[in-house]
Formats: sequence, structure tokens, C-alpha cells
Amino acid sequence: MQGIVSILQKGGVGKSTTAVNLAAALSEPERGNKVLLVDLCPQGTASEHVGVYGEYHSNEEVDSLAYHLIGKGKGDLRKIIFETENFSTIPSHDSLFEIRAELEMMEDGPQRLDKVLRPLEKDFDYIIADSPPEFGIITINAIVAMKNLIIPILMEHTSLRAIEDLMDQVEAIRDNLEVDVKILAIVPNRVLNDSVTQDVKEKLEGLPVVDFDIRKRVDLKKAWVTGQTIFKYKPKSDAVEWYRKLADVVENGGVKIE
Ligand SMILES: Nc1ncnc2c1ncn2[C@@H]1O[C@H](COP(=O)(O)OP(=O)(O)O)[C@@H](O)[C@H]1O
Ligand SMILES: [Mg+2]
Repeated sequence: MQGIVSILQKGGVGKSTTAVNLAAALSEPERGNKVLLVDLCPQGTASEHVGVYGEYHSNEEVDSLAYHLIGKGKGDLRKIIFETENFSTIPSHDSLFEIRAELEMMEDGPQRLDKVLRPLEKDFDYIIADSPPEFGIITINAIVAMKNLIIPILMEHTSLRAIEDLMDQVEAIRDNLEVDVKILAIVPNRVLNDSVTQDVKEKLEGLPVVDFDIRKRVDLKKAWVTGQTIFKYKPKSDAVEWYRKLADVVENGGVKIE
């Protein structure tokens, strides 16, 4: 099993879109990977994207990954794995908001997700996590458990600073928690042809940026609204080809820097 987390401590850059559509790409029958999507963002965007919104808002009687993180799971974790298109999904839940303080206080707080998912390790080729738009205990858990990062960015100058900050945080996790973290790919998202894009691209030189763009496509938004990946919503969209390329990058072990 290889873990991957779609990550950046900024909202609206495409983390959830990337996580969901990468899960779809890696699980296409031609590749035959068993893929688990884990929605770690309390906002539940990725869950909704694959049509499991109901579970997200369900009452306390229902189990959730959040309860497992604080050692209060209500049964086998497998019971909250849903079949969504060609892959499986553990949805987010309101309770992810509430458990953060408790998780922070646990001695093994940063390692909880890693421990909770370990029994599933043999069942999947890839586990892809979507993370919240901030740098907190949930994001730390995601990095520790997944170890491989995919960073979607908008082609704006603020993204450069965000990447720098993320790399500092990753360095701290490497040192303090002794986890071998790797940046698999930086993925330019919602790309337009303008001079700012070009300038940002030049400033990213030397970093593991993929050699293609995810361009701005309204179909990616529409797919989300219908609760389907772009692979199901519009299989002929050029965005499908871009996520296939991202899956190739993942299967080849990440972007190679010369
Ligand atoms: N390449 C794209 N083209 C057009 N819209 C996009 C693209 N990528 C993401 N979006 C849309 O932008 C919004 C934010 O994306 P999302 O994946 O939810 O970001 P994040 O998870 O980082 O907050 C969503 O409405 C999504 O549908
Ligand atoms: Mg999101």
C-alpha cells in the first residue's frame, strides 16, 4: 500500500478535486488498483464529490473515522467504507471538527491515523487522503500516515509562500516525528494562459512540478455538484486525461527533478 495526501494549507486550490479524481484515475479498470479515498477535511467536500454526503451529516449514533482517531470507534472501521465508482471511500463527518482538541492531547496524537488505517493496509494499493485547508493536528496525522504529498496550487504568487511554509512544516515533521516524507508532485491547477502564470511557473523551477497543467474547466465544478468524479460525469473531458497523467506520475514514484 502506498499512501498519498492531497495537501496545502489554503482553501480553494483544488485539494479535494485532485484527491477524488486521482482516486478515480488510479482505480480505472485498465490499471486495476484497489484505491481507498479518505476524506479528512471536516468540510466534507470530497465525500460530497463521490456522493456520500448523507453520511457526513448523520447523527452521533453512526460511527465515523473521527471517533476511531480518538479511540472511540463504534465497531469495525470497514463498516464505514463506501463503494464509490471504482474505488472505496471513508467519508468525512461533522465530528472531525469536534475531536481535534482531544486528538491533540493524546500522547500518540500525530500517529493515530497511521495506527487506525494499518489494518486496511493489505486491502488497498493506494490510500488517498484529502486534507483540511489549515495546518493542524488532522493535517499532521495525514502526513504521518500517508507520507507522500501531492500539492495542488493556483498559479498565483501567494502559492510560492504557501509551498515554502508547507515545506518548513514537513521538515519539522521529518525531524521531530522521524517520518520519511516525500513530495511526489506539485500540480498547477485551474491554470489560465496569462503572464502571472508564466512568472509563477518560472519561480517554481527546481521543484517537483508536473510537466502538464490542470486547466480551468467548469466541468470539474459541475462534476462535483452531481456527486461524481469527472471520469463518470464526463469521460471525454480533457481533464480526465490530465488526471490520468497524474496517476502515471504517481505510479512512476513521483516527479523526477533533473
Ligand atoms: N481545474 C479546475 N477548473 C475549474 N474549477 C476547479 C478546478 N479545480 C477545482 N475547481 C473548483 O474550485 C473549487 C475549489 O476546489 P477544491 O478542490 O474544493 O479546493 P480545496 O479542496 O483545496 O479547498 C471547487 O468548486 C472546485 O470544483
Ligand atoms: Mg477541500
